[in-house]
Amino acid sequence: MLKYNNIYLRPIEKEDIPKRTKWLNDEEISSMLIIQYPVSLISGYYWLDRIQGDESRTDFVICISDNNEAIGVIGLTNISKFNKNAEMYIYIGDKDYWGQGYGKIAVNLLLQYAKSVLGLRKIYVYTLDINVKARSLYSKLGFITEGKLVKHIYKNGEYRDLIIQSTFFSGFNE
Ligand SMILES: CC(C)(COP(=O)(O)OP(=O)(O)OC[C@H]1O[C@@H](n2cnc3c(N)ncnc32)[C@H](O)[C@@H]1OP(=O)(O)O)[C@@H](O)C(=O)NCCC(=O)NCCS
Repeated sequence: MLKYNNIYLRPIEKEDIPKRTKWLNDEEISSMLIIQYPVSLISGYYWLDRIQGDESRTDFVICISDNNEAIGVIGLTNISKFNKNAEMYIYIGDKDYWGQGYGKIAVNLLLQYAKSVLGLRKIYVYTLDINVKARSLYSKLGFITEGKLVKHIYKNGEYRDLIIQSTFFSGFNE
């Protein structure tokens, strides 16, 4: 079990899709994500079907231990066994839980999983230039800025830069 303090991560299930859809259609959340929105409920179910057995990604729901409430989604995509790296993403969908340290714990749990279970050596993450909060979180967890892709993503009516940050697990930084 991927668990720390009051937080645990579990695989995403069919019953999580309505909440996931609601979160991805929340403008405050999706305006910070690279994905296109709005998304439909049915596309969420298709997405879940599509990712089953896909070894290049792993997706978890972030839950509160006390009440098993799902508050967000976190995962690794583009997992490369050859290069031993992967891209990460996260959103705390229930905004009542923002700013209470849950994002930090969830990312830490994901990093432990990436290192210990998947044997990866490097995790990277893309953020929109406007997403100062997420970058601050990743920096606090040891992510270093590698660079940016200029005017790469069309978001809310304009082209935005994407910043890439990454972390290497110890012993793997060469
Ligand atoms: C970004 C997100 C995952 C952070 O989760 P969170 O649980 O709110 O963050 P935490 O409480 O764990 O805070 C961790 C760090 O983030 C930063 N942070 C949190 N809230 C912040 C704010 N309002 N302004 C600036 N930095 C902030 C701080 O560095 C904080 O560390 P500190 O508590 O030691 O100061 C969450 O706000 C979210 O899902 N946002 C919308 C989607 C998104 O941006 N996803 C990331 C896409 S790459």
